[in-house]
Amino acid sequence: MKQISVGIAGLGTVAQGVLELLAANRDLIRQRSGVEVNVVRVASRRAKPEVDLLGADFSTNVMDLLSDQRVDVVVELIGGERLAKELIVGATAAGKAVVTANKAVIALHGNDLSQQHLRYEAAVAGAIPIIQALQKGLVGNRFSGLSGIINGTCNYMLSAMEDEGVGFDDILQRAQALGYAEADPTFDVDGIDAAHKLTILMALAFGTGFEFPKVYIEGIRAITPVDIGYAAELGYRIKHLGILRNTAVGIEARVHPALVLQSELVANVNGVLNAVQVVSDAAGKPLFSGPGAGGAATASAVVADIVAWAEGAATSATTTSAVPVLSIEQVSSSYYLRIPSRNEPGVFAEVAQILSSYDISIDAVIQKDGHEQGDLVDIVLLTQEILEARMNQAATELQALASVTGEVMRIRVAPQD
Ligand code: HSE
Repeated sequence: MKQISVGIAGLGTVAQGVLELLAANRDLIRQRSGVEVNVVRVASRRAKPEVDLLGADFSTNVMDLLSDQRVDVVVELIGGERLAKELIVGATAAGKAVVTANKAVIALHGNDLSQQHLRYEAAVAGAIPIIQALQKGLVGNRFSGLSGIINGTCNYMLSAMEDEGVGFDDILQRAQALGYAEADPTFDVDGIDAAHKLTILMALAFGTGFEFPKVYIEGIRAITPVDIGYAAELGYRIKHLGILRNTAVGIEARVHPALVLQSELVANVNGVLNAVQVVSDAAGKPLFSGPGAGGAATASAVVADIVAWAEGAATSATTTSAVPVLSIEQVSSSYYLRIPSRNEPGVFAEVAQILSSYDISIDAVIQKDGHEQGDLVDIVLLTQEILEARMNQAATELQALASVTGEVMRIRVAPQD
């Protein structure tokens, strides 16, 4: 029987989830893994006498965990960046292992952190064991891509907008009231949270190191129920995706709303759920789906990391690849375009002429009465794959047409591989 002594930093939802999970399942964990997990100290700015600390000592200073000689593993659950990083660095220097749920610290500072005794399964997609899958279950595979719903708040909001036909602002308020959105909702709705997670997945799947600044980031603020409705008519659902692709010229790393065919598994993962689909040479396209947040779900990943460390498994995110990460202008996608226009003869011809001058082929077209006052139409198109840089030029010309009455809406279509 291996005895592991744990010090927990933080006493929020996830920390409480870890304490509850250990209280409920400690015997089961011991029987399964041969590891006995004992919490010896909990440190948090504010005491919460109502929480059962399982007999652990309590400190109001998280740095006390570093001087507690009994602590083998520091579980960092305080969130934020500066103090969390200091704690992780200090713990490593003190010869302790670290388990963290902190995606921002890993994505932004992972290259400066000693990886050998650091684990962060809980930082990506909550309960889904995607890091163990990439590193262990799928270790024999070469990955050509990965895509997924890695922000539950965005998925909840887009699902609710589709189901109820309501707009972004109303749904954001509800997501906040339900406690789904981060304290600063911009991290969720502007795609930063998803980009942190994608940075970690890229480092693990492609050996790039942690390259957060190279991830293209777009959130969901611009998505309207109108576009969700047109996408549905064309056979698609709009999801906020993190996408990685290993192409002949470099790695695509991007977070943005995307049209996904309704028949794809990932299109049917709704509400706050997360999903990650890996594209691999031997295993094909396994899809992992489950809760991406919440106390118990995230605690499940934290406990798995403690046990994996006790069993001697390291997370290896060493930089092994010199393949460049592409800028978004170098990425090719099919596009959904919605062009609000005057309802006059020749307008569609002008649109088609501009697209054709940039070698952009049209796959599907629908035309609908516009949603503004007057004799207006929405011209809605799906294009074939085209380089983003070329689409940018075409979109500028489309926007400048006298017959175009509003902002041209552009949404990329998810890759089909
Ligand atoms: N705010 C995150 C989400 C929580 O909505 O997915 C987990 O990182």
